[in-house]
Amino acid sequence: MAPDLHAPDFLRHPAPVIDGLRAQGPLVRGHLPILGKVWLTTTDTAARDLLKRSGDFVRNPANADGTPLERVWWWFPPFIRPLLRNITQMDGEDHARLRGLVNPAFASGSVEALRPAIRDIADRLIDELPTDRPADIIRAYARWLPILVICAHLGVPEKDRADIARWFAPVGRAAGVWTALRATPGLWRMSRYFRADFERLRATPRPGIINDLVQARQGSDRLSDDELLAMVIALFIGGSDTTVHLIGNAIYEMLTVPGLRETLEADPKAWPFFIEEIMRLKSPVMFTNMYHVSRDMEFHGTRLRRGERVVPLLIAANQDPDRFPEARALVPNRRPNAHLGFGAGVHMCLGMGLARAEAHIAVSRLFERYPDMRLACPPDDLTPLHRIGLRGWKSLPVDLVP
Ligand code: HEM
Repeated sequence: MAPDLHAPDFLRHPAPVIDGLRAQGPLVRGHLPILGKVWLTTTDTAARDLLKRSGDFVRNPANADGTPLERVWWWFPPFIRPLLRNITQMDGEDHARLRGLVNPAFASGSVEALRPAIRDIADRLIDELPTDRPADIIRAYARWLPILVICAHLGVPEKDRADIARWFAPVGRAAGVWTALRATPGLWRMSRYFRADFERLRATPRPGIINDLVQARQGSDRLSDDELLAMVIALFIGGSDTTVHLIGNAIYEMLTVPGLRETLEADPKAWPFFIEEIMRLKSPVMFTNMYHVSRDMEFHGTRLRRGERVVPLLIAANQDPDRFPEARALVPNRRPNAHLGFGAGVHMCLGMGLARAEAHIAVSRLFERYPDMRLACPPDDLTPLHRIGLRGWKSLPVDLVP
């Protein structure tokens, strides 16, 4: 039977389902909400192989005899259609062109330069947390930090950031047809704001990624306003809820795993390894976007036909005992830790350096300020997030000062 990767039981205890799937082979039949029938990889080797073969597995369905996304989602309002042609849905030269333009903004030097701003945002949010009653640390802290950091990195003026965060909130929560429709007013406001901003920046440049993209040229080629907007929205979508739940999942482990705080307090250099281990064992992204098979082929013992759809199950790859010793254990200083939490191959996460920096700063600053923070309810009372492909907690009530 096809696994239900959206079922509350799976979200709370994924291990037995993953083991059951892997026992059937490296590629199994599955069914995903909205996407329908797909193949799922169950091992690290199969997922890695798929992600690295960008000629055999493509993102744009039109490159595998499929219907282009604009036609699949024909019922979306016209202003959304250009957003569907974004970096995540492109292959080959189209993809390389866009990726080449944004890569420098996410290279390690750019992320290092952003660290003081991230610290500042974290500290300001921590200052506002209530200490006289339980605080939902997801809602009051983790939810805000990534969006404010993206705004800062993009160069959105400070006075406009709260509006953008408010408009984007329902977009981040979109998990199906109805929630997607509910997100359209916010998306429309963002589209209007950023299209006007492209005009402003052409007249008066100011620092930030949007400015760099507006000014960017490769030869005589420059990005159209549709392409610019699709990129900006892809950065918000790719970098917000993913990072919210990396931060939330790391905080949860800090609150519930005995001795973890002491380990990190004694050796602050271990923080990046701890964040990496959360990315492996509790990665907020359970699987990547869908890939389309571009030619008939044999893949890890399964006959695949052109046009079929395959999804690399990152959560299964990252717990594969053939790849990771003690795969189910949280080993805070695990080395090496070559997980697939950020994907691999040409679509590997553009913002992974930024996400790592955000999670490290957000969680360490919080526990430095409130070293005795406690969960305000038994762990079993917490509800897993119910959003396709995302792994996290709906809320995390904490007492900052017990
Ligand atoms: C914990 C946080 C994050 C996780 C777990 C994560 C995970 C991923 C994964 C697995 C992919 C590959 C998707 C695929 O192959 O289909 C991806 C791609 C991408 N991510 Fe992230 N991401 C995170 C944070 C960020 C941030 C902070 C940004 C930027 C602000 C970002 C922007 C992107 C973009 C633009 C892509 C598409 C790249 C492409 O298609 O070339 N991500 N991410």
